This record gives sequence, C-alpha cells and structure tokens, in this order.
Amino acid sequence: MSATGRKTAPLPDDIRAMKGSDPIVSLTAYTTPMARMMDAHCDLVLVGDSVGMVLHGLPSTLGVTMEMMILHGQAVRRGLERAMMVIDMPFGSYEESPEQAFRNARRLMAETGAGAVKLEGGTEMAETIRFLVARGVPVMAHIGLTPQSMNTLGGYKVQGRGQAGDGLLSDARAVAAAGAFAVVLEKVPQSLADRITAEVAIPTIGIGASAGCDGQVLVVDDMLGLFTAFKPKFVKRFATLGEDGEAAIAAYAAEVRARSFPGPEHVFGDDAPERG
Ligand code: KIV
Repeated sequence: MSATGRKTAPLPDDIRAMKGSDPIVSLTAYTTPMARMMDAHCDLVLVGDSVGMVLHGLPSTLGVTMEMMILHGQAVRRGLERAMMVIDMPFGSYEESPEQAFRNARRLMAETGAGAVKLEGGTEMAETIRFLVARGVPVMAHIGLTPQSMNTLGGYKVQGRGQAGDGLLSDARAVAAAGAFAVVLEKVPQSLADRITAEVAIPTIGIGASAGCDGQVLVVDDMLGLFTAFKPKFVKRFATLGEDGEAAIAAYAAEVRARSFPGPEHVFGDDAPERG
C-alpha cells in the first residue's frame, strides 16, 4: 500500500512487497518540520548523510559523523508517524568490519528510532549486509554513484556505462542475495537502471536513474530549491523556496529599516492581557 491511506509506518517487508506495484515515494529529511511536511506523502524518509553538505555547508559527505546523524535522526523521528525512517551510516562507520557496522547500526537505530540503515557499496559490502540482517538490522543498499567514494570514483560521474553496467548488475544481485530490502541506484544510465529493476528481486529506488525504477528519492532541499550551490541534472526543482526565502528576508530588512515593522497588529498595549 502506498503512503496515502496508510495509518502506520511500513516495515522493510512492506517496502519490499511494493516491488513492481505502486511506486515507492522517498525524500531525505534532516529536521522535524520537514519530516512532518512529508510524512503523509512519502513511504520512506531517508535521513541522508547529504545533511553534511545541505545543512552544514561541508564540501562532501566525508566529514559527516555518527553524532550528526544521531542528532538529525532524532529530529526526523519526532516528525514522522506514517512513513518508514531509514538512516544513513556515515563514512567510516561500517567499512572496517561487519562487527563495526553492527555496533554503529545498533547505535543509530537505538538512539534515533530508525527502522533501517542505508550503506553504500555492492559486492564488497555483501558480507556486512548479511551480518547485519541476520542480527535484526534491515539494510537498504546504495550502488552506482556512491558519494562517500567520490575520491576513488573520480568525482560525481555517471556510473555503469558500457561494460561497467554488468558490474553494477552483479552488485545489485549481491546486495539482494545478502538480504537488503531495497537498493538505491544513483546516477546510472536509464537503460541499466531498467535492466537492474527487471532482473533483481528487491525494489530499486532511483536518483538520477530511471522513471522505471520501483521508486524515486531526491534530496528535499534540492527539490524545494533550498539548496542552490549546484544543481545536478537529475534534480527537478518543484519549488523555489531559496529564492522566495531570500526575497522575504530582503522585505523584512527593508521594513525594519523603514520602521514599518512591527506594525500596530504586532505590538502589545498597556492594559488588556493579550495572547500570542
Ligand atoms: O545522503 C543522501 O541524501 C542519499 C540520497 C541522495 C540517496 O544517500
């Protein structure tokens, strides 16, 4: 069942069961008000490590810490009632060993209330995914452009063109066989995304992939036009909140300088007790 009409948050198995049926709607969130705004509309809300770039001004996701993820995860949790919450494992918190991954996944879930974790990597992370799933940690995988590996991938390039497509298909198969309940496909050719979607048993969630994926995810600040430092081709701006916000701030500054704000309706008289 899609987000509309649902009363409780879906479980990883409910998301898995959406393969090939209703498209899975997903966005990132980092704060309570944003999570509240999307709760009735999204199946899955991702506390992405993109928070580092979007809210903290970091140049990449590499500097994101467990503490940042936990703080934002707790904020998002407070805004959700109906959507499933997935939280990113930050760079350096899971790659060393399955045991390290379990320790940090346990902390992320216990301290934020997330229903699952997401980690980047394909075949090389299959053993870790298997280890986590066997110990009660639902995992969403992330292959294709994996931003935490931007230094070894040569930047934010499209992944899986030509022969490399077979490698990404093997990665998708490996994470599915290891027990991941869904896989994010980031910045891969449309034809490859369609092939992976057709050949792999778990839902594919596309970002810069294909409308044929089982679901889509975007960074919420990108699609609302709040993050404007750069705009990847795969981002569609559904609003211009950044521009609108700056115009509103300029209007406020002008009114303060002209002493036209606050107006009589915003100030308190001497006698009657007033609320607000
Ligand atoms: O961190 C993030 O926002 C993500 C999504 C873009 C998939 O991983």
